[in-house]
Amino acid sequence: MLTSYDYAFASIVDQAGIDSILVGDSVGNTVLGYTSTIPVTIEEMIHHTKAVTRGAKKALVVIDMPFMSYHESIEQAKRNAGRMIKESGADAVKLEGGTRMKEVIKALVDIEIPVMGHIGLTPQSVNRMGGYKVQGKGKEAESLILDAKAVEEAGAFSVVLECVPRKLAKEITEMLTIPTIGIGAGPDCDGQVLVIHDLLGLFGGFRPKFVKKYLDMREEMDSAIKNYIEEVRSGVFPDDSHSFH
Ligand code: KIV
Repeated sequence: MLTSYDYAFASIVDQAGIDSILVGDSVGNTVLGYTSTIPVTIEEMIHHTKAVTRGAKKALVVIDMPFMSYHESIEQAKRNAGRMIKESGADAVKLEGGTRMKEVIKALVDIEIPVMGHIGLTPQSVNRMGGYKVQGKGKEAESLILDAKAVEEAGAFSVVLECVPRKLAKEITEMLTIPTIGIGAGPDCDGQVLVIHDLLGLFGGFRPKFVKKYLDMREEMDSAIKNYIEEVRSGVFPDDSHSFH
């Protein structure tokens, strides 16, 4: 699984053969320039996901429910999840939280909306967690195991494990019957997800330990753009071959 936030990226990722595309609320950091996922709105999620579903012909598309779109009540969660699926064309929603979201997940599954869970480091809880830290270390492991069980019992079809010690992610993966999708959770999960901007090297600054940069796209873009500026200024571009006759 990889994230995408627009038509161009989604069609490339889809044609490359990915199983599933997540329109993550990481769109807030990667595309919209927010410093966290907290400000992302339902409208922004729908806008980006509509573009992704136009580009993705085969992959399963999952849309993230943003902060405060499912926290008030089960009725609110059903209304917003239904709207997001209807308007965006996504196949499933993802929402953050384990035990405390059990009833919400169950209610969405009951109205035929497939749900992917997300436990461990849940970025919408960054203010409570006090930063982006590995979760489930030491005594916290037991509560993460309970979260995983709750998500499965509620009827989710899979669960993201984010920033969880490798051994614990393995234990959870072996315990559950639904697939675990890891990000910073080691190699023993059933699947993996990464933010595409991280994989392609589109960000300059801090890179988390779990990210593998497969390309330095920022560097490549910088050099292509500087090349263009130079060629326009010097009159090399456009030449005769890029002109109409
Ligand atoms: O928003 C997102 O991109 C995510 C992934 C990091 C799993 O939730």
